[in-house]
Amino acid sequence: MKPSQTKPGSANGTGGHANANAVVAQAAASGSPDIFARCTRNPEIDLYRSADQLGLNPFYREIEGEIGPTVIYQGNEVVMLGSNNYLGLTTDPRVRKAAHEALDHYGTGVTGSRLLNGTLSLHRELEEFLAGWVELPSALVFTTGYTANVGLVSTLVQSGDAVFCDSAAHASLVDGARLAAGTLRAFQHNRPNSLRHGLRSWRSEPGRGGVLVAVDGIYSMEGDWAPLPEVRAACDDHGARLLVDEAHALGVVGPGGAGTAVATGVRADLVMGTFSKSLASCGGFIAGPEDVIEYLRVSCRPLLFTASNVPASLGAALAAAKIAQAEDWRREAVLSLAHRLRSGLAELGYEVGRPTTSSIVPVRVGDVLSAAVLWRALLDGGVYTNCSIPPAVQRPMLRTSVMATHTEAQIDRALSVFEDIARHGVVDAGRERLVGLLEPELELDATAP
Ligand SMILES: Cc1ncc(COP(=O)(O)O)c(C=O)c1O
Repeated sequence: MKPSQTKPGSANGTGGHANANAVVAQAAASGSPDIFARCTRNPEIDLYRSADQLGLNPFYREIEGEIGPTVIYQGNEVVMLGSNNYLGLTTDPRVRKAAHEALDHYGTGVTGSRLLNGTLSLHRELEEFLAGWVELPSALVFTTGYTANVGLVSTLVQSGDAVFCDSAAHASLVDGARLAAGTLRAFQHNRPNSLRHGLRSWRSEPGRGGVLVAVDGIYSMEGDWAPLPEVRAACDDHGARLLVDEAHALGVVGPGGAGTAVATGVRADLVMGTFSKSLASCGGFIAGPEDVIEYLRVSCRPLLFTASNVPASLGAALAAAKIAQAEDWRREAVLSLAHRLRSGLAELGYEVGRPTTSSIVPVRVGDVLSAAVLWRALLDGGVYTNCSIPPAVQRPMLRTSVMATHTEAQIDRALSVFEDIARHGVVDAGRERLVGLLEPELELDATAP
C-alpha cells in the first residue's frame, strides 16, 4: 500500500471511510465512546504489536504447505511440534482420496444448514460410525467441534439448571455455558472433591434444576486425564449427567482409539468429539441417547442456524475415523514418541509436568517474555511449537505435541535444538534484553490473572 492510501474503516476512525471521523466526533459529542475505541489501544493489542515488531509474535504464522511431521515455514523445513494431527492422517492417501471422492460426488459445499438442505447421506454414515465407536446409541455431526460443545450446553442447560465445568475445560464448553440460560459453576481442575462440594451445595436448595458436569477426557494444554471414575461417582451421587469432551483422546487412547471413557470403563452420558485433531479434518459431533440427540436436532441453534460441513471434510473424517479405529500402530507410535519427547525434555531440565498417556507435552516457562523468546529460538532452530499464554492458560507454556508419523530422528532433532537453547542460556539472555526494550506495563508476569 502506498503511504498516501489509507485502509478504509481502520479502527481508529481516521481511515478512508468518509463517515468514520463523523462517527468519532458524534460519539465524543454525545459523551459516549465510539464502540471501536477499545480496538485502538488496549494492553493486548499493544503487546501483540510490540511482539510483532520484535519478531516475537507466535500467532497467525503462515505455513506454506501441508501439515505433516515437518512443514515449510518461510521457505525452511521445520519439525512440526505444534499440530493436533496426532495420527498423521491429514496427508494419508486414503483420507485424501475420500475427501476427493466426497468433493466430486457432492460438490464443494452444501450452501445451507443441516435442518433444511445441508444433511447428506454421508452425515448419516458418519454419525452411525461415530456413535458405534464411542459406544453410545446416537450421534449428531456439527460444523465444528466448537459449535458442537456450544450447541449442546446452551441447548440442554436451561433456566434453573446448572453446568459444572472443570476450571481447565475447553473454552467451547464455557462459552456454551455462557450462552445457556442456566448457571455456570466451575470446580477446581481435576479435583473431584471440589466438584462434590459444588454439587452438594447446588442440590441443598430445593427446586433447583438439572445438572450437567463437563470435563475434557484429556486436557488440551497439559495432556492430563480427567479422573473419570471419581467424576462419574460424584455425578451418580448427585443425579448429574456427565459430558466428556474427547477432542484430544479420540483416536489416541482406549481400545480402537475410542477415548478415555471407553478406556476407563466409565459410562459417559454424552461424548463430544472433533474432526480437527486425530480425524484430520474439520467438524465435530455429540454422541448420546437417542432422545437427547433428537432434541438437539430440533432445538440446537448453533446447529440450525449455521451452514453444514463441506462434503470433503465429512469424507475425510469418515475415512480417518475408520483408519484411526483399525490401526493400533498409530496410537502406539504417537504415545511412544510423546514419551520420548517428554523424557528427553525432562532430562534437559525443562519443566514438562507429570507423565501422562497423551500426545501432548507441555513445556512450562516462567513468564510470557520467556515463552516468546523460547518459541522464537526454537523456530529459528527448526522446530515449530505453539506458544500458550494467559488467559488461554494459567501459566505461560509452549504446547508441544507429536504425530504417529514423526520419526524418532525428528524428535531427537527437536530435542537437540532444545538442548542448544538450554546450554547457551538463550531464554534468560533474550528475556533480559527484552525487559529493557518493552514498556514496563507490558511485562505480564506469570501470576497475572
Ligand atoms: C478440548 C477441546 N474441545 C473442543 C474443541 C473445539 O474443536 P474444534 O477446534 O474442532 O472446533 C477443541 C479445539 O481446540 C478442544 O481442544
